[in-house]
Amino acid sequence: MEIISINEFSDKKQFLDFDCGEPALNTYLRKYATQNERTGYGRTFLALENGRLIGFYTLVVSSMQRDGLQTNLIKRLPKYPVPCILIARLAVNKSDQKRKVGKQMLFDALRKAVHIADYCGVAMVAVESKPGAVEFYKAAGFESITDNGLVFAIHINAIISALAGQK
Ligand SMILES: CC(C)(COP(=O)(O)OP(=O)(O)OC[C@H]1O[C@@H](n2cnc3c(N)ncnc32)[C@H](O)[C@@H]1OP(=O)(O)O)[C@@H](O)C(=O)NCCC(=O)NCCS
Repeated sequence: MEIISINEFSDKKQFLDFDCGEPALNTYLRKYATQNERTGYGRTFLALENGRLIGFYTLVVSSMQRDGLQTNLIKRLPKYPVPCILIARLAVNKSDQKRKVGKQMLFDALRKAVHIADYCGVAMVAVESKPGAVEFYKAAGFESITDNGLVFAIHINAIISALAGQK
C-alpha cells in the first residue's frame, strides 16, 4: 500500500527543510519551482508523507535533437526533433532515500506522460541523470541515449506495456 501521496504543487513553506544532497536541486525547489509553475515553464509535483515534503519532480514538454545522440539511435529516429516529456528534476529528501519514494514519483511521472500522449504526440520520456542516479533510471527501464551516458530515455510504448503489467 502506498503511504506516500503525490500532490500538485502548493505553497513553499516546507521547501527550506528539503535537502536531497544535490544543492542545485534544492535551489531549484526553493527559488524557481514556484516561478516556473506560475509562468508554465515547469510543472512540479510534491511527494508528501503525513504532510511532510519528502520528494518532488518537475515535468516539461521538450523535444529531442539528433545532435549528440548515439549513432545507432540516430538511424532509428526521424530527421526532425522527436517530441518527448522531460523529467527536468526529480529528488528525494536525503533521510527518505532508498524507501522507494523516487520509484513511486518516477512511475507517477510515467503515468502522467501516458495521459499527455493521449492528446499530443509524445514518443519518449527523457531525463538527464546526475552521475549518482544512473542506476536508478536503468532499474526503471530507461536506456542511455548519449555517449556521455547521462541522458536516458524510454519509449512511450514501453511505458504503456510496463504500466499494463503493473495492473
Ligand atoms: C536518485 C534518487 C532520486 C533515488 O530515489 P530513492 O527514493 O532513493 O530511490 P528508490 O528507493 O525509489 O530506488 C528505486 C530503485 O533504484 C535503485 N537505486 C536508487 N538509487 C540508486 C543508486 N544511487 N544506485 C543504485 N541503485 C539505486 C534502488 O535500489 C531501487 O531498485 P529496486 O526497485 O530494484 O529495488 C535519490 O537518491 C535522490 O534524490 N538523489 C539526489 C538527487 C538526484 O540525484 N536526483 C536525480 C537527478 S536526475
